[in-house]
Amino acid sequence: MPAASALFEPYTLRSLTIPNRIWMAPMCQYSAEAFGPGAGVANDWHLAHYAARAAGGTGLILVEATGVSPEGRISPADLGIWNDTQVEAFRRITRLLEEQGTVPGIQIAHAGRKASTDRPWQGGAPLAPGTEEGWQPVGPSPVAFDPDHTVPTELTVDQIKEITGQFADAARRAQDAGFKVVEIHGAHGYLIGEFLSPHSNKRTDAYGGSFENRVRLALEVTDAVRAVWPEELPLFFRVSATDWLEEGGWNADDTVRLAALLKERGVDLLDVSTGGNAAGVRIPVGPGYQVPFAARVRDESALPVAAVGLITEPAQAEKILANGEADAVLLGRELLRNPSWARQAARELGAEPHIPKQYLRAR
Ligand SMILES: Cc1cc2nc3c(=O)[nH]c(=O)nc-3n(C[C@H](O)[C@H](O)[C@H](O)COP(=O)(O)O)c2cc1C
Repeated sequence: MPAASALFEPYTLRSLTIPNRIWMAPMCQYSAEAFGPGAGVANDWHLAHYAARAAGGTGLILVEATGVSPEGRISPADLGIWNDTQVEAFRRITRLLEEQGTVPGIQIAHAGRKASTDRPWQGGAPLAPGTEEGWQPVGPSPVAFDPDHTVPTELTVDQIKEITGQFADAARRAQDAGFKVVEIHGAHGYLIGEFLSPHSNKRTDAYGGSFENRVRLALEVTDAVRAVWPEELPLFFRVSATDWLEEGGWNADDTVRLAALLKERGVDLLDVSTGGNAAGVRIPVGPGYQVPFAARVRDESALPVAAVGLITEPAQAEKILANGEADAVLLGRELLRNPSWARQAARELGAEPHIPKQYLRAR
């Protein structure tokens, strides 16, 4: 019998079946310890936060941007996946998510020139190197994100290769931790996105200049991760489809070209966001404003896509899928407001809601 609603149709990528198309977007919680043995380690907050969205019926949860190295964290309070203590702590989360039928996924990240910033509720300002919690960021070129940010140190080719290796190690650890999806963070002006865009990448070597050179890091990281990530499990890539610059930036045409290359290398789904690499640009934010970028990638590259950005209403989300604009929707802030959004959507759309057995008496 066909599902009553496209949102509640299971989705199979490689050998993994995701129970529905309502997925949680990666969202930093800035709640890990900065130093010591607890640095980057998921704690009670992370467990409760992700468990609530799983109990609410979310099909797939992408755990927040998680640093492949200490220097790759956005803030000192980010999660990390560079040691075994971190892996062990993630196991509690992946186990609990799986118990609810939710697929556990993780976004692995290097913040590049936007590393070393404070928690948003403490102002979110860049933390200067040499201060108690700050460190020196790195990037493709010595060009700061904006006048408040530290000018990053330009990475050498050896250092680029080292970071590629850190992404592969992170993927190996993600598997150990029980994650079933890995997403490479190539969006929002963090390291991989910085290399993609001529706005931030001024290199003149094999990693800068032409399109082929600017996408080299994205492709090398993808190859390195795909080589260690199990064949039977899907790999996602998050991209900013545009810098929203009139000229001199990364744009939707570039994204379609990149999507085809990522597909050849074994990426299974593109998570299509925008922005974050150019300071001070105007972004025409509104309901579903990034969906057309996802739809274009899906049409022109035949790579499955997830749409994200101000998707808040069940009928809106259902229509995105029914129109063939995306294969799944990612919800961010709406899931912060309402952890049981998927259950509510099921009721509205006539699908079977997920109810934890412990809550059956409240059905
Ligand atoms: C608190 C918060 C933290 C975020 N952290 C991340 C992150 O770790 N990685 C990422 O790719 N995007 C991050 N984002 C962006 C979201 O994944 C999402 O793309 C964005 O919020 C738009 O979707 P929404 O309108 O449904 O919230 C974050 C957004 C918020 C609000």
